[in-house]
Parts: sequence; structure tokens; C-alpha cells
Amino acid sequence: MKIQIINGPNLNLLGVREKSIYGDSDFLTYLDGLKRRFPSHTIEYYQSNIEGELINKLHEVGFSFDGIVLNAGAYTHTSIALADAIAAINTPVIEVHISNVHKREAFRHKSYIAPNCKGVIAGFGLDSYRLAVDHLTNL
Ligand code: DQA
Repeated sequence: MKIQIINGPNLNLLGVREKSIYGDSDFLTYLDGLKRRFPSHTIEYYQSNIEGELINKLHEVGFSFDGIVLNAGAYTHTSIALADAIAAINTPVIEVHISNVHKREAFRHKSYIAPNCKGVIAGFGLDSYRLAVDHLTNL
């Protein structure tokens, strides 16, 4: 299976940023372990802080990959354009969050993208990504 992980804004700073919320592991180190855990699947990774670049990546992989794991960061709570991009593609998208957004500020409770995603995984730290990949690889 070909799985694309997409991280949105500020997630390039994992391991540095607000460690009490997001933990102290950087994403590339975590990704190495994740790839080792799923050796028979291809896991690609892309990160951008720019909304349009995230949309371009969804368009690029969204008709050929088997699954997309998307942490859209704060764009989750603001972006109708990302929601439209997810609706436009064929590949199923799983929305993930490291933190439990429902335990946090009210503005994080709203997701514009969730209605167009297959499901949502939030609050399990970086393990949220593993749970999403696990689901996709069992389809
Ligand atoms: C996040 C939650 C968002 O509310 C926040 O803006 C992020 C990270 C998470 O993974 O917990 O950047 O998506």
C-alpha cells in the first residue's frame, strides 16, 4: 500500500515546540520507527507551513495513493479550501491530531475538514499517526 503522511503548519517544530503538549520527539525520528513497523508498505512524508502547498500535495497523491494521514494543524480549524481539496480527491483521508483538541481551547473543537475525512484520531500523541496507518493497512 502507498500511504502519504501530510503535516501542516508548525509541525516541522515537533520536539522543539510546546513540548508539554506535543512531546519531545521530532517527527523524522518518529517516522523512521513507523516505517520499520510497516515494512511491506510505502510511507511517504510531506510537511508544509503553506496552505496552498498542502492542497497541491493532496491533489498530487489523491488519485493514486491508497490512504492519506493528514495533520492539518491549525488549518483544521480554519480552512474551507483544505476541506474542498479532501472532497475533490479519491484517496481516503484520516484526520489526525497529536493532542486531544477537544480538551483544549474552544476554537480547536471545530474541524472544517472532518466531514470530508474517513475518520478522526486525536489525543494519542504521535501514536495517533500509527493508529491511522494501522487502519489503512488493514483495509
Ligand atoms: C494539532 C492541534 C491543532 O489545534 C494545532 O493548531 C496544531 C497541532 C495537533 O496535532 O494536536 O498545530 O493539529
